[in-house]
Amino acid sequence: MTHEELVRLDHQYTLQTYGRFDVDIDHGKGARLWDLAGKEYIDFTSGIGTASVGYGNERWAGAVARQALKLGHISNLFYAQPYALLAEKLCRRTGMAGAFFGNSGAESNEGAIKLARKYSFDKYGKGRGTILTLKNSFHGRTVTTLAATGQDVFHNYFFPFTDGFRYAEPTMDGIAEVAGHDVCAVLLELIQGEGGVFPMEKEFIHELAVLCAERDWLLLVDEVQTGVGRTGSLFCFQQYGILPDAVTFAKGIAGGLPMGGFLVSERCRPVLGPGTHASTFGGNPVCAAAALEVQNILDDGELAQVQEKGAYLRAGIEGLDLPCLGKTRGLGLMVGVEVREGYTNKELAARLMDAGLLVLTAGHNALRLLPPLTITREELDAGLAILARTLV
Ligand SMILES: Cc1ncc(COP(=O)(O)O)c(C=O)c1O
Repeated sequence: MTHEELVRLDHQYTLQTYGRFDVDIDHGKGARLWDLAGKEYIDFTSGIGTASVGYGNERWAGAVARQALKLGHISNLFYAQPYALLAEKLCRRTGMAGAFFGNSGAESNEGAIKLARKYSFDKYGKGRGTILTLKNSFHGRTVTTLAATGQDVFHNYFFPFTDGFRYAEPTMDGIAEVAGHDVCAVLLELIQGEGGVFPMEKEFIHELAVLCAERDWLLLVDEVQTGVGRTGSLFCFQQYGILPDAVTFAKGIAGGLPMGGFLVSERCRPVLGPGTHASTFGGNPVCAAAALEVQNILDDGELAQVQEKGAYLRAGIEGLDLPCLGKTRGLGLMVGVEVREGYTNKELAARLMDAGLLVLTAGHNALRLLPPLTITREELDAGLAILARTLV
């Protein structure tokens, strides 16, 4: 099939909800991708942070293939080893007490929202279901997670949205302005990803954790983008020195297969009892086996390298001193790059793609880089070389 034939097929038979780049991708290896015509790309996107252990990873593909041959799906009416082993691994590596598995980031956040509302209902009854989220946040595309998202541009068309969310500036004064007796939880990203790669101040997060404990609000951390090694620790909250009541994950958890979920603290473990929450594909054996292999690959040594590689990439970009790019920000291999006035992130991304480097855009005017966590120095250098010769 040619690129033109594929585009025609897409346009005729799929809903045109995505503004796709005019690029098709056929296959990959490590942090390299190739299109149908055989053109090579260095990938600083990893499928929006999902292909955490790179493309064509033999350990990952072997685990998927073995499990697919053994048992593809069975449902949560029965016990099965892969999800149970994965839950154990995630709890042991984080200090959290229990896991729930679903399919996507939005679904994971929906689960955490239900957890907070039920925790509060069980203890205090009705009237305390409001969740504070932050301005410029992003929590998903379902009607409820759109409502949780603190950006007006997402509150359109699909009325009525779910009630019970108020949006705060990311400061203690900002929280105080929207706090009230009806609040049961705060939901936030430690680094706002879609919003432009903005890390939260550590002091703010520490003070907020204290306030949550005082008011008996649950602290819900959305790690759909920052989780599973992206920032150089298994979860970003571990670098902030807090223990949330719930932490949600998705994207990179199964290395590119659809899986999400959340971990809860000890006191929240009994909240969602039988019949209160479920997901047909949740904990699917193939996804869970893939996720277990991702855990094996992303051991503590590999996570330390994520921090080093992130620092190397940021220093490399800033060292190029390109006229269109400013400072970098982020943690580990979640890197935001400021685009200077007079340039747009979309235009720069298109030029880079043409030259063979895939990058993401985010927020008002930033580039966002989420390479596979297993990217090599040589692949990073190849990407930096494309940046250098394309954006001079
Ligand atoms: C922080 C955050 N939360 C939630 C989501 C939604 O995830 P999904 O698209 O898997 O539903 C995203 C997706 O980009 C995200 O970055």
